[in-house]
Amino acid sequence: MRVGVIPDHRLSGDIRVPGDKSIAHRWLILAVTARGASRLTGLPSSLDVRSTASCLAEVSIEARPALDVWSSKTGPRVERAGSTWNDILEVQAGSVLELEGEGRSALVAPARELDCGNSGTSMRLLAGVLAAAPFRSVLGGDRSLSTRPMERVAEPLRRMGAGVTTVKGHAPVAIDGGPLVGIRHEPIVASAQVKSAVLLAGLAADGVTTIVEPAATRDHTERALAALGAPVQASDRRITVASFQHEGFDGAVPGDVSSAAFLIAAAALTGSELAVLDVGLNPSRLGFLEVMARMGVRTGISVDGEQLGEPVGTIQVERCARILPTLIDASELAAVIDEVPVLAMLAAHADGDTRVRGAGELRVKESDRFAAILAGIEALGGVGAGEGDDLVIAGGGLAGGVAHGGGDHRIAMAMAVGALAARGPSTIEGIEVADVSFPGFVRALASLGAGVEVLP
Ligand code: S3P
Repeated sequence: MRVGVIPDHRLSGDIRVPGDKSIAHRWLILAVTARGASRLTGLPSSLDVRSTASCLAEVSIEARPALDVWSSKTGPRVERAGSTWNDILEVQAGSVLELEGEGRSALVAPARELDCGNSGTSMRLLAGVLAAAPFRSVLGGDRSLSTRPMERVAEPLRRMGAGVTTVKGHAPVAIDGGPLVGIRHEPIVASAQVKSAVLLAGLAADGVTTIVEPAATRDHTERALAALGAPVQASDRRITVASFQHEGFDGAVPGDVSSAAFLIAAAALTGSELAVLDVGLNPSRLGFLEVMARMGVRTGISVDGEQLGEPVGTIQVERCARILPTLIDASELAAVIDEVPVLAMLAAHADGDTRVRGAGELRVKESDRFAAILAGIEALGGVGAGEGDDLVIAGGGLAGGVAHGGGDHRIAMAMAVGALAARGPSTIEGIEVADVSFPGFVRALASLGAGVEVLP
């Protein structure tokens, strides 16, 4: 599916975005492994979240019917003509999930390979849960996921006592789960997925499990576990957890702030005001707002409530007259890892050069984002270069052109947003991949008045 972008339409209005993918993965896993009934609302129909739901359905007899019904209600809406163009509310209509768990120990051996699709979070977090389950499970995924590094999660789980094999460091990941012992793990790469896998395994391990992160990463797992009463402690970059079986819970998944980032950038690039409502405001996800502030994009946040330890509220974007270049240091990268593609699009419209230092980790995301960002900027008539692990983006604006999303949701959406302020029209091909995290993306932009249109 292609989207045509006509620049320079002002955006206006308030908007909600689909539920947070990161939070939804965790709460789904916690609901299925809880003892008792749970009720989740606001679950997004994002393909990644559906991958976690379908894997969980394979290993839980009790939760399977509810998960299957939820998937079948959301699935057709996503697939029909691509949800990037469907109405977001329609897409979210199937988002209530009520299920019954019997605790972690009731998980059953899957009859087939668990298909994690495009979702690294599904694969790595489920590896942590299955490491303690006394049977063999195999986690597989699509072509992109099968090239991503899995030893970073396999190695600590092995040390905890699980049998874990990868194929030269990649999926499929085979897990022979069993009794675990707590470990101390100091990952070399800052990764919330690895941290979460080890913490989830730690819930079933004998003794204390400790993680010391090289840089702080999103803390959704710690917050959820603390809200459920687990013995989890986090201070600075050191997190500990001990054995615990949680009970069922109720939670409303807040809007995904990483999806909101695309709309905030779209507002900034078109000199528009915008309010994003009911969005997650976890500080560990808001690093991109600090970077945007340095780039001249002023936003205000107000927290209206809390869900399972997650602050929820509104982001208000002020009218922005001019985008400034900035330096994103390597120490900042973990906090903005998913927003680099859209920050790069802002940078392409800045009046000077922007540098992202130490951005090598971008090479092992859903695509080689380091290369994809540069290719996308070039396709849209801008200039960027790689200098070792540094990404350097020349400002000065984009001419417009034809770019391809390259099968990566955040790259495709970033290109569409960057094109909103180009000097001429653009076409972004492969936009349907936005469904991985932001079903309704094109419709959301259109509803705010952006010049976007799905092309035949
Ligand atoms: C995620 C963590 C990040 C992020 C991904 C979601 C999570 O990955 O890029 O989109 O939900 O824990 P890493 O932990 O590998 O950096």
